[in-house]
Amino acid sequence: MKTAPSTPPRPQGPRASPVRTLRSRGRSLLLALIVLLALGAAGAGFAWYKFFREEAQPEWVTADPDMRFKYGSIGAERDAGIPYWIFYVLPRMFPDKLPGPGGYAAFGVVWEEGQELPVGFSKKVVGFPRVANNCASCHTASYRTQADAAPVFVPTGPNHTLNLWAFFRFLVDCAKDPRFNADNLMAEINLVTELSFIDRLLYRFVIIPITKKRLLEREAQFAWLYRSDFPPWGRGRDDAMNLTKYFMIRWPMDDSFGPTDMPSLWNLGKYRADAGMRMNFAGDSHDAYSVVIDSALGLLGAAPKDNAEFLGEVRWLIGYVSAKRAPPYPFPIDAGRAARGKAVFETTCAGCHASARTGTVVPLAEVGTSPERIGTWNERAAREANAVVAGMGIERPGLVEAPLTGYVAAFLDGIWLRAPYLHNGSVPTLHDLLEPPERRPRVFWRGYDVYDPERVGFVSSGAEAERRASRHDVSARGGGNQGHAFGTGLPAADKADLLEYLKTL
Ligand code: HEC
Ligand code: HEC
Repeated sequence: MKTAPSTPPRPQGPRASPVRTLRSRGRSLLLALIVLLALGAAGAGFAWYKFFREEAQPEWVTADPDMRFKYGSIGAERDAGIPYWIFYVLPRMFPDKLPGPGGYAAFGVVWEEGQELPVGFSKKVVGFPRVANNCASCHTASYRTQADAAPVFVPTGPNHTLNLWAFFRFLVDCAKDPRFNADNLMAEINLVTELSFIDRLLYRFVIIPITKKRLLEREAQFAWLYRSDFPPWGRGRDDAMNLTKYFMIRWPMDDSFGPTDMPSLWNLGKYRADAGMRMNFAGDSHDAYSVVIDSALGLLGAAPKDNAEFLGEVRWLIGYVSAKRAPPYPFPIDAGRAARGKAVFETTCAGCHASARTGTVVPLAEVGTSPERIGTWNERAAREANAVVAGMGIERPGLVEAPLTGYVAAFLDGIWLRAPYLHNGSVPTLHDLLEPPERRPRVFWRGYDVYDPERVGFVSSGAEAERRASRHDVSARGGGNQGHAFGTGLPAADKADLLEYLKTL
């Protein structure tokens, strides 16, 4: 389960605001709407056309499954979309609020050459063009085989570069800035496009004020992102169950904090609920159908407009990710060593990672990794979230209504591309994971995309990594790299063989 609506809901008309300037804008907006309505019977149709009519996305998005996963709308534009032209000019207006140069690229989004939007950002006309997020924003991996190589993008892989924490804060921080007003935004928008006279009026009096208001409304729900006693999540991490608590069931903020890596979704069908397997890192959810529904609802930020259409999209997504397979390791593999490593794996690892235990929860006491993620969710939260979804008329097995007791022993297919390791991404490479916890790196940089075939993971130190990635300190809250000491006592030769075998998965 994941996600929060990263963006503000659709304009629904003016509402009273405590801020005087907004109130007077609200009045102008009311006036504008009254004028429109005064145009007569055509008024209602006009308003519907300008705010709510939905246009299908172009065929280059919808016809190809990979493109649909990367850029297709899952329906989030309606309530969680940002008006396209506001989205476009924000980084130009507020470069000081970005984590680095390069516009949205500074957030580590996956961006394909020639595309106007990053992977995981969908553009759709709902009255006017809006931008929203889909699953691919967090579930698309990227890597480079060396510093001067072109990036390779893997839809359904984990996005380990995305600084979601900074992205969420950016949108709220922009809205809070006094420079976020109709005069300034219109001046910027007029530099990059020629809107019609009517659209300029609508942007100025309706779309901009409402977008600002909706973004500001999110501030309270994002309060824990601003706590000085919590470290930033760092690239490739998401405090997903807290997002669910604060957005879906609207709980008040508590003291829990447990960001995790983004998981891979490829070959999703391997998870068999009927065999007792559970989804999410701590086994919070019964099955893939439930997780995908909850993830999509998080992105929509509201009940679906049409449940049948929504569940159709959910089934398409499940079919798509189930059919995908992990990409093969892109460097040479020593077949002899890998064969010997397979034997090591069978005796040391398969009992959890290739057996009836795989996909099931291993007790925390047995695996010994950081407990923080478990503390972000509980039985009551599951009951309440299930009630919210049931209240929308959606049936699903849902979240597990029981205390969380440990972490899922995941399937290891494509494990080479799932660095950094453990649920909280606290161990940079597989080589390091096979070292005893006290010998694993205590500080490293996560979110740099050049691959390190020696240690099997991403390059996590050095000047470029420090410039492009975020610092992970295992002593910071939620960052602990303890536990999972399996295999750490093996002779060095066995470890090397095992590492070679893990590349083949
Ligand atoms: C904002 C980032 C983000 C978005 C967007 C997102 N996810 Fe996720 N997803 C996560 C994270 C993080 C987790 C792991 C949460 C945990 O267990 O703590 C996750 C977990 C999952 C899982 C469980 C995987 C497993 O191995 O247990 C599935 C399935 C999944 N997401 C599917 C989707 C689908 C489908 C969408 C789109 C409808 C989506 N996600 C959107 C971040 C995201
Ligand atoms: C007793 C069960 C058990 C054994 C034995 C075991 N693991 Fe694990 N493994 C787990 C659990 C549970 C997790 C999830 C822990 C977490 O994320 O906090 C895990 C996580 C992992 C991960 C991280 C996955 C990711 O997506 O980050 C890797 C890699 C891994 N194990 C490899 C191995 C290897 C290699 C061996 C053998 C040397 C091994 N495991 C032995 C239970 C086990």
